[in-house]
Amino acid sequence: MKDNADKISQRDGTHSSLWQSTGVKISHSNNAANDALYDTLIIGGGITGITTALLLQKQGQNCIIAEAHTLGFGTTGGTTAHLNTFLDATYPEIDSDFGKEASAQMAKASKDMISFIQKNIEELSIDADFKYLDAYLFSQNEKETKELRSILNAAQEAGVAVTEAAENGTSISFDYSLRFSNQAQFHPLKYIRGLARAFENIGGRILENTFIHNIEFKNEIHHAKYGEKIIRAKNVVYATHVPPGVNILSLRNAPYRSYVLAVTLKDDHYPDCLIYDMQEPYHYLRTHEINGKKYLIIGGADHKTGHDDPIQAFDTLEQYAKTHFQINAVDYRWSSQYYVPVDGLPYVGQLPGGAERTFVATGFNGNGMILGSLSATIISDLIFGKENQYAKLLSPSRLKPLAGFNEFIKENADVAYHFLADRIGTAHIKDITDLNSGEGKVVEYNGEKLAVYKDDKGKVTALSPVCTHAGCIVNWNPEEKSWDCPCHGGRFSTSGTVITGPPRKNLEEIPIKHL
Ligand code: FES
Repeated sequence: MKDNADKISQRDGTHSSLWQSTGVKISHSNNAANDALYDTLIIGGGITGITTALLLQKQGQNCIIAEAHTLGFGTTGGTTAHLNTFLDATYPEIDSDFGKEASAQMAKASKDMISFIQKNIEELSIDADFKYLDAYLFSQNEKETKELRSILNAAQEAGVAVTEAAENGTSISFDYSLRFSNQAQFHPLKYIRGLARAFENIGGRILENTFIHNIEFKNEIHHAKYGEKIIRAKNVVYATHVPPGVNILSLRNAPYRSYVLAVTLKDDHYPDCLIYDMQEPYHYLRTHEINGKKYLIIGGADHKTGHDDPIQAFDTLEQYAKTHFQINAVDYRWSSQYYVPVDGLPYVGQLPGGAERTFVATGFNGNGMILGSLSATIISDLIFGKENQYAKLLSPSRLKPLAGFNEFIKENADVAYHFLADRIGTAHIKDITDLNSGEGKVVEYNGEKLAVYKDDKGKVTALSPVCTHAGCIVNWNPEEKSWDCPCHGGRFSTSGTVITGPPRKNLEEIPIKHL
């Protein structure tokens, strides 16, 4: 199994994704001109940020990307890069919550974004392994079949190219199957690095390892601080999933993790299509060939970040893979974070309650490659004051008191529960030396609650377990070796550094000698 240590690019966990070992490294100048006033500062170097930056720069802006880690460090490096005209919010759900016109819009947007990505690849000569394929969505029981039939009707009404199918692309048994035409797949890191190169070639700047910890808006200019330095810009785009700090979007998006295996097979029964079942959580499958070697990529076992057991999630997924395929070896396994919007559709546009000309794009569910690209086109239009056909539907300020209301209550009741229960129920160990090497645990020690980690050499790091975002207690993620917050998906390294999510400050280190 590959870990993160020696990969071409890094990402937000110990496990390495297939893409990290097979991308293309590009270097960046990594310094901003001190006195420059940029048109737009884009925070986040994933597909959303880089696409936005390129679109703006191409139209004459002077832009800068600030990425806290390295390009593709977050979900773009951990996606499985399926490009679909059907979304995790199903067409019947969109019909019901937003109306049929909205379904038609999302169908058109998804189709257009597949073409948009393909066109970028062609125009910029990016070797991104892009391929058009059919996708199969299949049911395995009566309840799922009923739902699938309603998806067929609603999707066709929305204008999606989908039909009933007599097969599902694999030997997995099924009751009923749909085939969606002209779906696609690609290599996400090769793609964004191609976009980044194009952005730099026309004067764009990229700063990696640049964590923006504060932004002040004064005299109509955003002043973004990183360390002792400041970037000045007229517009700011948060391409970071939920924006940092406590705001309404933290409440309207629930963080989830999905698990992925890239395996080789004993036989050659690699599917030449994209495949999805309808279990909860659902499984998603596809094949990718790299340097002449085929991998079957299987995803699933999703759960809320910081909640269920990641070890169990990988076990469950591996069991599923072994049940349906002749596995030769599991070459890669990794997990990745995504955000589920409370009413099913992403939030793209001006940040509610934020300073003027502060834009955000989040709530992509499991459709980040499509919706990240769509967000880039919307935000670039908004910045130039152009009409955009999707801006109103996906506005972060939309008022949908009914759509998603139950989910909103459920997710936030869950957050409130963690805020209280984490404080009442305390684990207790007599001595931090009880920890095994490589293990982390929230423990009570001399009346203090601590997040304690012991590394492979026996060095112990003790942190405050109180998340710096809104005060929930973090949980240990033994697979990715991180402290994960169960409330809004903030994640921290074993040394307490913010990895991802809305927190802006690291977990406080508690000196061991003071214990
Ligand atoms: Fe919000 Fe931790 S991410 S409290």
